[in-house]
Amino acid sequence: MNLKNCYNFQDFRKLAKKNLPAPIFHYIDGGSDDEVTLKRNTESFSKYDLVPNILASVGEPDLSTTVLGTKIDMPLFLSPTAMQRLYHHDGDKASARAAEKYGTFYSMSTMATSSIEQIANVSSGPKMFQLYIHKDQALTDNLIDRCKSSGFKSLCLTVDTVVAGNRERDHRWGFTTPPKLTLKSLMSFITHPKWTFNYLTHEKFELANVSHFTKKGSSIAKGVMEYINEQYDPAMSWKDAEYCVKRWKGPFALKGVMSVEDAKRAIDIGASAIMLSNHGGRQLDGSRSPFDQLKTIVDAVGGKIEIIVDGGIRRGTHVLKALSLGATACSFGKGFLFALSAGGQKGVEMILQRMKEELRRDMILLGKKNIGDLSKDNLAFRD
Ligand code: LAC
Repeated sequence: MNLKNCYNFQDFRKLAKKNLPAPIFHYIDGGSDDEVTLKRNTESFSKYDLVPNILASVGEPDLSTTVLGTKIDMPLFLSPTAMQRLYHHDGDKASARAAEKYGTFYSMSTMATSSIEQIANVSSGPKMFQLYIHKDQALTDNLIDRCKSSGFKSLCLTVDTVVAGNRERDHRWGFTTPPKLTLKSLMSFITHPKWTFNYLTHEKFELANVSHFTKKGSSIAKGVMEYINEQYDPAMSWKDAEYCVKRWKGPFALKGVMSVEDAKRAIDIGASAIMLSNHGGRQLDGSRSPFDQLKTIVDAVGGKIEIIVDGGIRRGTHVLKALSLGATACSFGKGFLFALSAGGQKGVEMILQRMKEELRRDMILLGKKNIGDLSKDNLAFRD
């Protein structure tokens, strides 16, 4: 298996598994508890079948759409994901550059291993910042203000990770941040000498956005889950979210909204979008998949707020099914992280290229010229 013959998500995943020490592969690949939600996120797309229109004179479809005030070239973008430096030594820089090339959003995690300013320097493409509310209010304010002055286009606030999910694979494989040689992980580092060499010879691992505020940020010896439990505010409330909307004064998404009640409240506090998400099945196991919940949300708030679907996206047809049900756009995390692990910037470009090709081909096969032409008439529910 090499990069050239990676055609889809599963191929990139296989190559990532080969390249990465096991604890790191499983940190990306895993979910919480029994991984029921992780599995269902993708499975739920098969509940609906696509119903094409023929002889529609499509010619060349237009895949562009507008999300959070920015026109992007395809209705799929990169979800915010933490610590990309672990997956490839170019980390966030590689993803940001690849997203820019494909005219879509790169999203930076609060727990990124490059800083807001570093990424603003390497990419002039559309950039979103993902915020966690820290117990230290000054740190939250600092992150918002730096995004503003560095030209980030939009902000999303993650609301489903006030405590860390139960990731049992991390315990089993001995995942630590920064990676440490432990008895459990020793063999996986020795048997991945290329990764280990690159890790040791490139930029130091640090949570570049928060390291100046908290010593723990530069070296989370206890692990990322402990960081979340120590630093994030489990008492976060609607008041805090509204505070962020007001301080940011720009396109704003709440990431992790799943209920109708919360979607309505997101409108009330002035959010521009909700991201239907269960954090890639990594938080509350047994929670509903974003695609399963989409119709209910569209029926309640469609047209009043943008709806982004994040979770389980592996194919262009998954994106088209979500858009047909009324989503504004989709994003994926694991979908591009395995490609990053497989081939750095080139890998991320390749998965975006594959997905773009799939979207183009499938729009033509569906008989649709524009993203706005997709509707629930393109779907039939499988009983
Ligand atoms: C995770 C957090 C850190 O899912 O976003 O691992």
